[in-house]
Amino acid sequence: MLQEFPPKRPPNPQGTDNPGNARGAHEVLAFASVKAPGALLAAGRDADIFEYGPGLVLRRSRNGRSLAHEAQIMEYLAEQGYPVPRIAEVSDDGCDLVMERIEGPSMGDYLAKAPWAMRRQAGVLAALHRQLHEVAIPGFLRPAPVGRGTNIVHLDLHPLNVIVGRNGPVVIDWTNVARGDPAVDVALVWVLVLAGEIPKNPIAATMTSLGRRLFVNGFIADFDQREVFDCLADVVAWKAQDSHMSPREVRAMWRLVERGRQLRHDG
Ligand SMILES: Nc1ncnc2c1ncn2[C@@H]1O[C@H](COP(=O)(O)OP(=O)(O)O)[C@@H](O)[C@H]1O
Ligand SMILES: [Mg+2]
Repeated sequence: MLQEFPPKRPPNPQGTDNPGNARGAHEVLAFASVKAPGALLAAGRDADIFEYGPGLVLRRSRNGRSLAHEAQIMEYLAEQGYPVPRIAEVSDDGCDLVMERIEGPSMGDYLAKAPWAMRRQAGVLAALHRQLHEVAIPGFLRPAPVGRGTNIVHLDLHPLNVIVGRNGPVVIDWTNVARGDPAVDVALVWVLVLAGEIPKNPIAATMTSLGRRLFVNGFIADFDQREVFDCLADVVAWKAQDSHMSPREVRAMWRLVERGRQLRHDG
């Protein structure tokens, strides 16, 4: 059964992400009474996303992994003014998470239709990284599996995990959130977007090869590139263990480590 997860700011019924637009207690009760999930919206890597009444979605873990950790950080980040979907409820076992539904395409899908916006959206993604890395870190985050640092890192903050919402971009998919090194977060985007030389790669499906290069060049221009390229090998060694990456993708990522070394040397 779903329980209300103490939301300081419950989700907005209109699906907007205006931080000042909180609902009253009676409206919280209205959505808390919705129990059965609606249509399947997306089958994720280890969770499914369902419609869940007006303005809400249900994220349901498929492997019994609790989503309470990501709900906790999303609540915290919303309080800090960072753009994330508002959390409504979490089930006792943590396997069901109800959150605000953000209307809009992913940044990847948006760019597939508006390739001229590549540089601008690269800047938007860079700003989302920067803003996240500047938020004061709460005590409950576990250390990242790669890189050492004392900042909040998302560890999957690429164009498919940003929804271009009506009121601005919103970051989803907080599965990997941890305490770590911001350069690792940035290096991961560089690798994941460029490794999309592979047709089956979902990022590649939304961006052409030229578009991806434009995008990462614009994205990385905002950061200390030495720091980013210095952690590339560690990032790829970590990502290579991810069962969702194909052997072909892993080989492409290792080739990118070489390219990063070269760029670091030339730069
Ligand atoms: N809060 C949300 N509002 C609207 N759509 C969402 C929301 N969260 C997830 N989705 C949809 O579900 C998809 C998968 O979610 P995500 O959390 O990225 O999981 P995964 O990367 O494992 O597939 C997203 O691309 C998006 O289409
Ligand atoms: Mg995702």
